[in-house]
Amino acid sequence: MMYTVIIPAAGQGKRMGSDRNKVFLELDGRPVIYHTVSKFDEDASCQAIYLSARQDEVALLTELLKGFHKVKGLVIGGSERQYSIYNALKVIPPCEVVMVHDAARPFVSQETLTELYDAACAKNAVIAAVPVKDTIKVINNGVIDHTPDRNVLWQVQTPQAFKYELLLEAYQQAAESRFLGTDDASLVERLGVPVSVVVSDYDNIKLTTPEDLYFAEAIMKKRGI
Ligand code: CTP
Ligand code: MG
Repeated sequence: MMYTVIIPAAGQGKRMGSDRNKVFLELDGRPVIYHTVSKFDEDASCQAIYLSARQDEVALLTELLKGFHKVKGLVIGGSERQYSIYNALKVIPPCEVVMVHDAARPFVSQETLTELYDAACAKNAVIAAVPVKDTIKVINNGVIDHTPDRNVLWQVQTPQAFKYELLLEAYQQAAESRFLGTDDASLVERLGVPVSVVVSDYDNIKLTTPEDLYFAEAIMKKRGI
């Protein structure tokens, strides 16, 4: 038993403010997407990697990833992350477990991949997350509405792992009711299916804004890269 991963890479990277899609920014001389794909290429439980790419970046991505034999396909992404992933989910060969992982998270650990895959085999749905560090407030029109108990708040990441049939059903249902979520689990939650959590680590950052590049440098330094 092995899993297939879908890696959405078809964004604009607007918040990064760079002149190109942030997944092509270089870390240690290699594009972010190269580092991310290599994590799955090196994971013995991963059987196939599919990516969602922008039409104008397909050729670049194909060339960049040609050395990774687990990369089985590139699909054209959509205007939202959810559409990019659905385009891939519709064409991958049916499998037992499918993971979704942001191209912009190059630091996912092998330990997290293993824990997620094992948990997804035993359960139906499981995501990587870490406890929030800051106090979070709900604010309306610049005024605090209330303060949720921090002990129950988690910052969710990817990978998110699901039984294939369940994730496909969740995406189909979301499309039918025009529901747009900011992560994959939220589509499964709507079906009333419990989604479990694997405690990940704070290194598994998503490169989102320019200062994340400083954190990325620090993480690589710590890892001796
Ligand atoms: N993504 C995608 N298709 C989209 C939007 C996002 O495949 N239409 C991908 C991104 O390439 C990224 C991941 O989804 O790897 C997480 O999204 P995010 O961090 O929001 O990236 P961007 O949408 O590119 O950035 P921004 O929101 O700042 O424009
Ligand atoms: Mg985005």
